[in-house]
Amino acid sequence: MAEIHVMEHPLIQHKISYIRREDVGTKEFREVIGEIAGLMCYEATRDLKLKDIKIKTPIAETWGKELTGKKLAVVPILRAGLGMVDGMLSLIPTAKVGHIGLYRDPETFKPVEYYCKLPADCEEREVFVVDPMLATGGSSTAAIHMLKEKGVKHIRFMCIIAAPEGVKKMQEEHPDVDLYIGALDERLNEHAYIVPGLGDAGDRIFGTK
Ligand code: PRP
Ligand code: URA
Repeated sequence: MAEIHVMEHPLIQHKISYIRREDVGTKEFREVIGEIAGLMCYEATRDLKLKDIKIKTPIAETWGKELTGKKLAVVPILRAGLGMVDGMLSLIPTAKVGHIGLYRDPETFKPVEYYCKLPADCEEREVFVVDPMLATGGSSTAAIHMLKEKGVKHIRFMCIIAAPEGVKKMQEEHPDVDLYIGALDERLNEHAYIVPGLGDAGDRIFGTK
């Protein structure tokens, strides 16, 4: 069964509470989403494998450590997932970036696919799917099905705010995918928005509405 990591780091909790406020404007919202993504990336990469390597400092030869194992990729779910990419790349700058375009139909809340472009060798990579919001779970489960159809086997999903309904759907459909969640909220409302949530993440990142 997938592991669920709800982030307890004080900086993550502080920054999430900050961006929940309705009076935080686009510029600040976007910047802080990026900062949270970087902090979450740090937490979600704790178990990456290392190998011992010999290195030479200006003073002496010694042993050090270097990342080994699978190369990494970051796949944001458009649009809102884009807001997390730079924060991720600030810590893992050599990761390749794929894009999956999905939007939620406002009537049915079901995801509608409109774009998919992935690194050519994505099936050999450890893929971090990122999207600030996990609400019904329709978008994230669909994105992960798309990756699996392309042969990707090692997937982690990272979101800033999740609803229990979305977590359940992810666990049912993708029990092999570990979840990294900034904050686990109470529920969905009648419009499938997360309560208390932060509103529409894409609109707040890009200043649309
Ligand atoms: C939002 C959000 C997720 C999705 C979550 O995207 O960024 O992708 O909704 O909801 P779900 O778990 O019920 O699928 P939206 O469809 O609003 O598109 P956008 O990112 O282009 O604003
Ligand atoms: N998408 C968002 O951006 N916010 C929600 O609360 C639910 C879906």
